[in-house]
Amino acid sequence: MLTKRMELELNKQINAEYWSAYFYLSMSAYLESIGLAGAANWMRIQYQEEISHALKFFDYIVERGGKVELMPISEVPKKWNDIINIFEETLKHEQIVTGLINKLMDIAIEEKDHAAKSFLQWYVDEQVEEESGVQTILDQLKMVEGKGNGLFMIDKDLKQRVFVDSTIQK
Ligand code: FEO
Repeated sequence: MLTKRMELELNKQINAEYWSAYFYLSMSAYLESIGLAGAANWMRIQYQEEISHALKFFDYIVERGGKVELMPISEVPKKWNDIINIFEETLKHEQIVTGLINKLMDIAIEEKDHAAKSFLQWYVDEQVEEESGVQTILDQLKMVEGKGNGLFMIDKDLKQRVFVDSTIQK
């Protein structure tokens, strides 16, 4: 059984994951509007990943006999300066999420909830991948100054990304 505090914090994280999903979907819409279909695809897959992260928390709360309570999703930005700015904001956001996951882990330790600690370890590892993947794209974009033929090639590459539900693979 989850403690009330653990249950509340896990519910808050469902909301944070849905906010992330909405954030990336908004980026995807913006990228479509400026003709970067590959980057738009990458962000749409990112959106799907965040939904899968949210549902993993959802299922876990149910599995532990807790109560899922969905909260309102606050507004997300709609506009960015350019593609470098978008990936900078993505990296910044993923670093914030890493902080949230680490805080959840701290709470699981304080609550002596060993099962939650084991569950949260998946997210700790996932965040390493999330940050490193975004950093790689950002480095490439900076290399070509976010424009010209280089950008065209990167956008083509980002078009290849497909959704793989990592929550059921690991
Ligand atoms: Fe759910 Fe991008 O972390």
